Amino acid sequence: MGFLIAVDGPAASGKGTIAAKLARLYGYPALDSGLLYRAVGVRLLAEGGDLSDVAAATAVARTLDPAELEKPEVRTRAAGEAASRVAIHTPVRECLRDFQRAFAAQEPGAVIDGRDIATVIAPWAPAKLFVTASPEVRAERRWRQLTAQGEAVEYADILADIRIRDERDSGRSDSPMVRADDAVLLDTSEMTIDGAFDAARRIVEAARANWSGN
Ligand code: CDP
Ligand code: CDP
Repeated sequence: MGFLIAVDGPAASGKGTIAAKLARLYGYPALDSGLLYRAVGVRLLAEGGDLSDVAAATAVARTLDPAELEKPEVRTRAAGEAASRVAIHTPVRECLRDFQRAFAAQEPGAVIDGRDIATVIAPWAPAKLFVTASPEVRAERRWRQLTAQGEAVEYADILADIRIRDERDSGRSDSPMVRADDAVLLDTSEMTIDGAFDAARRIVEAARANWSGN
């Protein structure tokens, strides 16, 4: 197993940005695991399916193509909502688990961001971060991001989305969003992107110094 950096946390906390920057710093491949659930939700809706239909959602998850993660539709507000609704289904999570575990184990290392990386996918990860920020700050960031992508959205609606998604993600029975006991909490509410990355880098460097691998 390589030096896996697991970056978990709620929507729009900045975990993806931090994960991508860490991956660049160390030269490791990065996986945004949320894209897997987003892609399942997007295809299911495009096929006219129902997000609560476990069999249909599982059939999509089983046949997911990596190219589907690259589509602009997976980055929309609706895709985030759909993702959290298909992510409650255990068979969907099972279909996506092996791919994530294989990605996690590669040498010399990898970075994965999501909700359950440090708790379920790879509890053995030598470096674990739980990135968070207040719901208001996260809503502001997500609002800016979606607006920059050309999606017309209201801040109040995005804040409501964030609160619902936090509740659904932390309240589900399979792989709920929770900080692993040994994950370092990083609250980025008052931090710029550079400040958050700097703090994350220090946490990872400390974990690397203690790592017994190569
Ligand atoms: O980008 P954002 O933080 O809004 O969400 P995301 O990371 O793209 O994840 C979308 C949804 O997928 C989350 O709200 C979770 O319900 C689900 N997800 C999950 O269950 N497990 C993961 N490892 C990653 C995402
Ligand atoms: O992956 P996750 O949904 O947690 O968040 P992200 O996509 O990394 O970040 C959401 C948005 O907030 C992006 O547009 C980032 O550039 C921005 N951001 C920020 O303004 N300040 C931070 N400290 C972190 C992220």
